[in-house]
Amino acid sequence: LVLVVDFGAQYAQLIARRVREARVYSEIVPHTMPVAEMLARNPKAIILSGGPSSVYADGAPSIDTTIFTSGTPVFGMCYGFQLMAQGLGGEVAHTGAREYGRTAVTVGAPGTLLADIPAAHTVWMSHGDSVAAAPPGFDVLASTAVTPVAAFENVDRGLAGVQWHPEVLHTEHGQKVLEHFLVHIAHCRQTWTMVNIVEEQIESIRDQIGDRGRAICGLSGGVDSAVAAAIVQRAIGDRLTCVYVDHGLMRKDETEQVERDFVAATGVDLKVVDAEKRFLDALAGVTDPEEKRKIIGREFIRVFEAAEAEILGDALADDGGSKVAFLVQGTLYPDVVESGGGAGTSNIKSHHNVGGLPEDLEFELVEPLRTLFKDEVRLVGEQLGLPAEIVWRHPFPGPGLGIRIIGEVTRERLDILREADAIAREELTKAGLDRDIWQFPVVLLADVRSVGVQGDGRTYGHPIVLRPVTSEDAMTADWARLPYDVLERISTRITNEVREINRVTVDITSKPPGTIEWE
Ligand code: XMP
Repeated sequence: LVLVVDFGAQYAQLIARRVREARVYSEIVPHTMPVAEMLARNPKAIILSGGPSSVYADGAPSIDTTIFTSGTPVFGMCYGFQLMAQGLGGEVAHTGAREYGRTAVTVGAPGTLLADIPAAHTVWMSHGDSVAAAPPGFDVLASTAVTPVAAFENVDRGLAGVQWHPEVLHTEHGQKVLEHFLVHIAHCRQTWTMVNIVEEQIESIRDQIGDRGRAICGLSGGVDSAVAAAIVQRAIGDRLTCVYVDHGLMRKDETEQVERDFVAATGVDLKVVDAEKRFLDALAGVTDPEEKRKIIGREFIRVFEAAEAEILGDALADDGGSKVAFLVQGTLYPDVVESGGGAGTSNIKSHHNVGGLPEDLEFELVEPLRTLFKDEVRLVGEQLGLPAEIVWRHPFPGPGLGIRIIGEVTRERLDILREADAIAREELTKAGLDRDIWQFPVVLLADVRSVGVQGDGRTYGHPIVLRPVTSEDAMTADWARLPYDVLERISTRITNEVREINRVTVDITSKPPGTIEWE
């Protein structure tokens, strides 16, 4: 286990993923966690992430310097690097010289950390202060035009750091630097694989559930819930029942696809609950995005509670009435961290499968994917033999099309959006671009009307927004440069085939500052 200490910037998640890519298991902990508690988890190494602040700013997060004398190897990046310099007796100065973005670095003495890395290469920086002098006993490895000390190490003490961000893609050789630390300085073993995850998860689910009852898994049709269900099924077999709640907010034909593809792949017993009316009634008149999420999350759980007796009644009678006690969810690590589980990062949106749960929840949660990133879930899905169609499906939010209609959600508006969305997805697939695109929301601006002309007549319809994005984990995203001819086909077809829509626009905002969804 490697702990990544989160100083409040979202780099911590990326670092944790890179560590796992090096086949070493990692988790994120908040910087407010006492050092003794971190050490009690017996980590092989600790990584101090970047952060938004200067070490001299009022209220700047810091860390107890006993971490550096504990004997546990520590690697500092950016802000973490400066904290190390400061805490170990080096010098951090306000030089006034800032470095942001791509920066040329010169490796003077590679040492262990930068061994075999070209003397001149480009890294990604984001800092105002600089380390002016390395702590006593440390070797300075690299510098930049404005930063005399851009990397240092003390291999005997297992301590090292870099001023740049090795975890971002724009940094050349970043992964190699990280691996040098993990393998040659911290002596971690690179043994963490997807096979291990599946086996560990099956084992821990058996421990959690024991013979205490049955589990229900809500299937959404996406990869997360499918993989979660497949793992739990392996752990407890036919004590798992999968339930698919048709909340009326799904995309076109999605319900049929779930019934057909997932059942074919796993042979799982699937019950479909038609709850469209209930959800639409609860959403009537609601326009606030967070309110929509809360309502949908709440109704979701209630539907399970209501379905419980009916679905499992017979089975419960058969096994002496043991109660349904477990609810399987495909919650991912970024959801956990974004909902405040990783502290230090702000609660950006209350994801309905974590933050929006009602207080009077009657189920105990089983979350086999709680520590995994999306790309890891896909690998696990392949490992479990799920079909590519499910494993590579684009992510789709739990609240469904409910948060892609800007304004009140009604059946009529949903039908309009479903038609437009189906066309966009169909054309993307035809163009062979499914795997290049992370997600392709189509958003209906239901309260906005625009004037158009079609045939001889004036039209007064609604605009729709295409929001294709590329991303690695949904934490950050870029707008996808779809070929013009694909955009043109989508636009022409939507305005021809969906009567209510007379204008098609493309969202060209990256995340940040935008989010992927519009609500
Ligand atoms: P944003 O819009 O925050 O979305 O950039 C990041 C990812 O999360 C999905 N998303 C949700 N998923 N419940 C979910 O299960 C939600 O309330 C929710 N909101 C956003 C979004 O589709 C994207 O993949």
